[in-house]
Amino acid sequence: MADSLILGIESSCDETAAAVVAGGRRVLSNVIASQVDLHRKYGGVVPEIASRKHLEAVLPTVREALSTAGVTLADLDAVAVTYGPGLVGALLVGLSAGKAIAYAARKPLIGVNHLHGHIAANFLTDDPPAFPLVCLVVSGGHTDLIYMTGPQEMELLGRTRDDAAGEAFDKVARSVGLGYPGGPQVERLARLGDPEAVPLPVAHTEGPYDFSFSGLKTAVLQYAQKAGPLNDQQRADLAASFQRAVTRALAEKTLKAALEKGVRQVILAGGVAANGALRQAMADALAPHGIRLSYPAPALCTDNAAMIAAAGHQLYTAGIRHGLDLNAVPSLGLL
Ligand code: KG4
Ligand code: ZN
Repeated sequence: MADSLILGIESSCDETAAAVVAGGRRVLSNVIASQVDLHRKYGGVVPEIASRKHLEAVLPTVREALSTAGVTLADLDAVAVTYGPGLVGALLVGLSAGKAIAYAARKPLIGVNHLHGHIAANFLTDDPPAFPLVCLVVSGGHTDLIYMTGPQEMELLGRTRDDAAGEAFDKVARSVGLGYPGGPQVERLARLGDPEAVPLPVAHTEGPYDFSFSGLKTAVLQYAQKAGPLNDQQRADLAASFQRAVTRALAEKTLKAALEKGVRQVILAGGVAANGALRQAMADALAPHGIRLSYPAPALCTDNAAMIAAAGHQLYTAGIRHGLDLNAVPSLGLL
């Protein structure tokens, strides 16, 4: 069981991905067919185009993942596939492919929650995080602070009241004239700016572990409008100040949760976990308290299928199997 061989398939948004993972931690292959270039001219993901492209890419991507890993379908222990949350048409393509492969190869099918996948990416290492821990999920659609005592034992401590952190990055990117997807471009621009240059508000929320980013996003927009056409330095300063405000809020509340729960381990998950400034802010907050910080390699933070296989391994070892009647659930919650 420890050496399970799992094929992971992911198609919830704009990446068609397939990967083979051994023992829940060794990535034998990790293939991603990205559609980012196609959607860029629309400033975001167009669901119809995404579904069509997934359909074209899914089987070649799976084939490449198997051949790169040097395995055949017969070698697999299970097929793990994302069934939500995400775009319904996009999810259905990967899920249908996963079901067909599992049926044809007579392998168990395991449906994976995309967010569980993001979290499980932290376990794709020989030195995995130790439970209990506090996990900050920061993706394009979610900002959740979770207390975990095991791979599936989760307690939601807090979440965003409005925009997700990644969403705020994407919207701010647009307001300073950067394209889609915004997060990595804001990070790059912010490196050239002064994070103290623009005073920005950080919202106070009722719940001690809740976040709110829409006020911050609006403040950035208003600043950009009032200041008129921004020069390069002003844009960089605004990006840096925004990034400082977001990462500070995330780090403060994560530290508070870790101290309250008395954990010695914090992990980051989701696309925004690739952000260098967030990693640094978290390390700065946690290190003085001797709390260990882990996060996946940047390529495993954004959407990929190795994380789906990693989550699949956790479910597989817990004895979880799904029937071929498993349906896509676009608004699937984590807990
Ligand atoms: O987790 P993910 O790939 O998709 C969802 O499951 O939602 O996250 C995508 C989000 C986007 O909002 C993107 O702008 C953001 O993650 N992101 C980043 C960085 N890389 C991706 N945000 C800030 N800095 C980055 N380096
Ligand atoms: Zn994702």
